[in-house]
Amino acid sequence: MKKAGLLIILLSAVFAACYYDKDELINPTDLNCNTENVSYSGTVVPLLQANGCLGCHSGGAPSGNISLSGYAAVKTVALNGKLHGAINHTPGFSPMPQGGNKMSACAIQQIKAWIDAGSIDN
Ligand code: HEC
Repeated sequence: MKKAGLLIILLSAVFAACYYDKDELINPTDLNCNTENVSYSGTVVPLLQANGCLGCHSGGAPSGNISLSGYAAVKTVALNGKLHGAINHTPGFSPMPQGGNKMSACAIQQIKAWIDAGSIDN
């Protein structure tokens, strides 16, 4: 019995390690990323533009009924978790940008920093 318990502990440790590695691969952290002084107008809007988000998420009939044009609209998806879930490719969210390359690790960290700081209109 004692051996079985030990085996279970060992196996859990192994699986936990695998999971951790996978998460690191999917979500690498850019240690040189500057997440200070991020702002809506100076950081978030340029990143959304540079990553082609507005091509689908603006206008009268935005994709998925999600608009990313204007502070109020972006704030909504920032607060309900969808913005970070989508760009971070978190399971349970639709990975964005659809059909495009994942945003850089630094861009994702900067948007997350803006969200964590309260998603303010700065
Ligand atoms: C080619 C068109 C296209 C582009 C480019 C695109 N999206 Fe989307 N997006 C969609 C469609 C279609 C949906 C709704 C269907 C779905 O959820 O897959 C969606 C859904 C979303 C959602 C909701 C996700 C969820 O899980 O509910 C968010 C947030 C989002 N997009 C943000 C972005 C951001 C941020 C970018 C830029 C990095 C982006 N999108 C680029 C087409 C696009």
